[in-house]
Amino acid sequence: MSKKTLVEVAQGRRTDRIPVWFLRQAGRYLPEYMAIRKNLEFVELCQNPKLAAEVTLQPLRRYDVDASIIFSDILIPCTAMGQTLTFDKGHGPQLTQPVRGADTLKRLVKPDAERDLGYVGQAIVETKKHMRPDQTMIGFAGAPFTVASYMIEGAGSKNFTEVKKLRLQEPETFRGLLQLLTETTVDYLLMQVKAGADCLMLFDTWANQLTCADYRDFIFPAVNEVIAQVKAHWDGPIIYYPGQSLELIFELAGFRGDVLAIDWRSRLPRAIALIENLGLNLAVQGNLDPQSLLAPEAVLRQQVRDILEAGTKAKGHIFNVGHGLQPHTPPDAVTKVIEEVRAFEQSLRQEKMH
Ligand code: CP3
Repeated sequence: MSKKTLVEVAQGRRTDRIPVWFLRQAGRYLPEYMAIRKNLEFVELCQNPKLAAEVTLQPLRRYDVDASIIFSDILIPCTAMGQTLTFDKGHGPQLTQPVRGADTLKRLVKPDAERDLGYVGQAIVETKKHMRPDQTMIGFAGAPFTVASYMIEGAGSKNFTEVKKLRLQEPETFRGLLQLLTETTVDYLLMQVKAGADCLMLFDTWANQLTCADYRDFIFPAVNEVIAQVKAHWDGPIIYYPGQSLELIFELAGFRGDVLAIDWRSRLPRAIALIENLGLNLAVQGNLDPQSLLAPEAVLRQQVRDILEAGTKAKGHIFNVGHGLQPHTPPDAVTKVIEEVRAFEQSLRQEKMH
């Protein structure tokens, strides 16, 4: 049986192939995505297993990538907890009934993952039928704090005022919401594993918006608990994206995940050195700036090589962008990045033979 390259590398084993995929590799920069999306709203697309699978597979038809990530959103579980999710043009996500105190928290429910969110599992089953055995199916969820921040604000935020108000004025309610999300996320991820996810990723995009002390006391324990509980039932790898700050790496003692996704604002060699110095036994993912795909070809290829070179010093390296591909990304630039990854892995193979 052919092994899954990304899973191997995520778990610290050496492979001849360098795993590569792209955050938001499905989406608005692909004309074939827009053709489907023009007929229905984003949330409807996520809730339609056949079309969600189709959109997940689109980049796999174009590109020689090692993984697909199921097409969905970190806020989809909120729709099964009692909030309504919409994406108004230009305004990003909006959630009704924002959590502003104990009374609004009490109105939320813990979903039954199979019954209420089973369409995500069905999309995974459908997608896997069309994947090569060496390709990895990635399931995902938002980490509890990042999802909580949308549930509290009711939308995206610049200053996270409502989040901080709840944290400071009603810490028990804040903790209660994180607890509900921890339990919800464990069930949701295990449902995706049952459907066929080979690897999981947790997005904690806003993890660095509170103080480091709050990260240590509230945010990290919640995400680490999710990972510990999932791992009690499953031995696959888990990737964690802690947002834009390398500073949080100092708070990761006892972390149970396998791979740290590094944002492009951090220098990959420094991240790798810190991981080693702190005694964290982690592979890395990243960290090309998604806007680098706009660069002249020679510049883009050099940036890819620099990242690959840095990655050889890590316990394992999954090549990726440091954050999601942007709607204005030229689809051909993605091909060039993958070509460069394949050329680099070929040169490593030749070095090994001499
Ligand atoms: O990577 C993938 O292809 C998988 C799908 C995926 C989406 N969102 C699809 C999406 C994943 C993994 C996410 C995660 C997500 N969603 C995060 C964490 C990662 C990150 O970007 O930091 C966050 C914070 C969200 C919340 C969210 N969803 C925002 C802020 C937005 C609006 C911004 C935008 O680009 O419009 C979304 C919408 C969204 N999620 C789109 C897609 C493809 C665009 C929807 C569309 O209009 O077609």
